[in-house]
Amino acid sequence: MKTIVLTGMMGSGKTTIGKLLSNKLNLEFFDIDTLIEEQEGIKISEIFSKHGEKHFRTIEKEIIKKIFSPTNSVISLGGGAFENTETRDFLLKNSNVIYLKTSPEQIFDRIKNNKSRPLLCDNMNIETINNIINQRKHNYETASYIINTDNKKTNEIIEEITGVLE
Ligand code: S3P
Repeated sequence: MKTIVLTGMMGSGKTTIGKLLSNKLNLEFFDIDTLIEEQEGIKISEIFSKHGEKHFRTIEKEIIKKIFSPTNSVISLGGGAFENTETRDFLLKNSNVIYLKTSPEQIFDRIKNNKSRPLLCDNMNIETINNIINQRKHNYETASYIINTDNKKTNEIIEEITGVLE
């Protein structure tokens, strides 16, 4: 089966859905944020604070390239990975990219108490989330499939994804 890549804003459920989807379809699962933390031996927030976002983006791009296989895997990207033109073009060409589209309100509800995301920790509010989505949506929307996740249970989202991939 062609590799499935999940993109979308922070808090849109990429990791949760990716894990469940890979189990259901019996595919290998890669969570890019987790792989970055394992490789670097520090949390993403520390990479941002010690080395800056640019450095994080370089590692992110390299890890995606390193682990990518065109078949039989599910890859959950970090919310900003699809902003990189080279990564985006490569993934669009070689995998089934799915955009998990979630409203700023639902994202805020899910992640408001979570301090692990450096782009939001000092500005955890609906307006900032909305601004980031607006900056990125033209790239997210290049995905092969767009799944609206608002008010849906994880199993409904998984079913929708497997439905569109058939
Ligand atoms: C980021 C999203 C995060 C993580 C980093 C930057 C972003 O991943 O890669 O904090 O730029 O949107 P999640 O989307 O898994 O939260």
